[in-house]
Amino acid sequence: MCGIIGYIGNKPASPILINGLMRLEYRGYDSAGISTIEKNGLSIMKDKGRVKNLYDIDGIDKLTGTIGIAHTRWATHGKPSKENSHPHIDNHNMFSVVHNGIIENYNELKTFLLDNGYTFYSQTDTEVVPNLVHYYYTKDTKSDKLKFLRAVKNACNMLNGSFAIEILCKDYPNNMIVVRKDSPLVIGKGEDENYISSDIPAILSFTRNFYLLNDLEFANLSKNSIDFYDNNLNLINKETTVIEWNTSSAEKDGYDDFMLKEIYEQPNAIRETIGAKLDDNSRCDFSELNFTKDFLSSLNNIYIIACGTAMHAGLTGKYAIENLCKIHTEVDVASEFRYRSPLIDKKTLCIFISQSGETADTIAALKLCKEKGAKTLAISNVIGSSLTREADYSVYTHAGPEIAVASTKAYTSQVILITLLAIYFAEVLEQNNSEINLLKKDIIELPKKIEETLKLSETIKNFSRKVYQEKDIFFIGRGIDETVAKEGSLKLKEISYIHSESYPAGELKHGAIALIEKDVTVVSILTDENLVKKTISNIQEVITRGAKTLIITNKDINEDMFDVVIKIPDTNTLLSPILSIIPLQLFAYHISKEKGLDVDKPRNLAKSVTVE
Ligand code: AGP
Ligand code: GLU
Repeated sequence: MCGIIGYIGNKPASPILINGLMRLEYRGYDSAGISTIEKNGLSIMKDKGRVKNLYDIDGIDKLTGTIGIAHTRWATHGKPSKENSHPHIDNHNMFSVVHNGIIENYNELKTFLLDNGYTFYSQTDTEVVPNLVHYYYTKDTKSDKLKFLRAVKNACNMLNGSFAIEILCKDYPNNMIVVRKDSPLVIGKGEDENYISSDIPAILSFTRNFYLLNDLEFANLSKNSIDFYDNNLNLINKETTVIEWNTSSAEKDGYDDFMLKEIYEQPNAIRETIGAKLDDNSRCDFSELNFTKDFLSSLNNIYIIACGTAMHAGLTGKYAIENLCKIHTEVDVASEFRYRSPLIDKKTLCIFISQSGETADTIAALKLCKEKGAKTLAISNVIGSSLTREADYSVYTHAGPEIAVASTKAYTSQVILITLLAIYFAEVLEQNNSEINLLKKDIIELPKKIEETLKLSETIKNFSRKVYQEKDIFFIGRGIDETVAKEGSLKLKEISYIHSESYPAGELKHGAIALIEKDVTVVSILTDENLVKKTISNIQEVITRGAKTLIITNKDINEDMFDVVIKIPDTNTLLSPILSIIPLQLFAYHISKEKGLDVDKPRNLAKSVTVE
């Protein structure tokens, strides 16, 4: 994980680097650092903690170098400390390196380098990289303009694992080399200046023209040129991708936190995602897939594979696909899927959901599915992300950049997109026409209903004030509502640090009900007409044991029995998660604020988990 930034141009690099790191802080905030090339050689300034601590480092405001690299860390190897902060430098002060990812064979490489006289000052895996580059650099007897690049390439060929690396060399003060494998990195092209970043929004205010690197492609940058090379150091051509995102969508727009802004962006995010796929005549258009009836009928099953919130979106997608298309669908956590010998072959469609498209576990699962001959389809929010480049097919949510670590608008956009996908499959399979037409009408009304749901924020805030000091909060539901219970519980855990569990309402009595005692809060979701009565019976069981109850429902129920009832607009059950999750996102948000926590950057987490 972590965020990396690079700049090469005519302006002093350090303010640009620090500013970029601030925007990438959601990716990790254990430590931060920058390296620039100054008149007297490489400079490195770094410290433990948040990016803003960099301003306290003596001399950082005196740096004038116009080339530099920077890093905000989410530690994998070695505790958060100044020594373990990036950039790392080789023993001879010639190469400085920032790295996102994990060098899996760093112990062997360390032994090799120790045997060759190198010394290590940190506990990181990364520190082998500058020293290995130095090793190859000094072994190279030629001295031409590609010597630096050859040393980086030779070093990278020794690395196992994942990496996005930026590297500076004292002998090449006008060049920077970058390379990636299984970790994100984009190059932004400017006028007489170029930028590097882990994600697009961080440098979107400088340029809209981006180059995307594939695995083990190298870029050698100067301020007015970028040369791309493959792993044999043959020059390769690359086209720029123009990014149309609105820059202000990457800022807070007056909201206290990105999370709140993103919660309120949901009507628009959903509108955009629906608009991209349902045309004016309500035809579902996935022409980029072009799946035939023969192909879809040949499928034995569909797997949906993802992590965290994206996996929860997959759980709701299962309901849509099985209901509308009658194809058996399984949902798997990506990190488990790979290691349980899944039964997949060319009669399997594997769908991967990932906001960032950079989640290492999800990408690894996709690679496995491809090896086994399955067709792979990526659902992502980021055009050109690693996942979409690996997959056979890709479709996109149009949620816009999501910055807060806790995912909100990406989740609802994923749920709507996978529901639209299920409709498309059902139409190709010629199934369920009347039900589908009704569903489409409900889909079109969704953005307005989300706006109505957002108006409930004050009521939820009031309830949050009553419960924010609690130790445990339970979420229950049946059927599709249980998938929302899971997501509500995850949101709460992530940003409030309150212990929380989600349970199928009917399963509670098989064990977890032992944890219910006086004043424990139980949040219930009730939107499936067929299951409301059953769930109410389960809620009664916890009321009997003294629980406080918060109900999210779109049905007319006897409200007297419960402490608080949040009434959301009615819609088709398959779409109800998109509305019922909103009070739960707000619930987690208000509790976190009440506790005075950092909503956007919860402890121990990072936005995009690019390590296994
Ligand atoms: C969501 O609130 C989480 N921070 C996390 O579970 C996230 O959804 C998961 O890491 C997957 O990320 P992705 O969608 O970018 O693959
Ligand atoms: N593995 C490296 C470290 O722990 C990089 C981690 C990251 O991607 O931030 O320093």
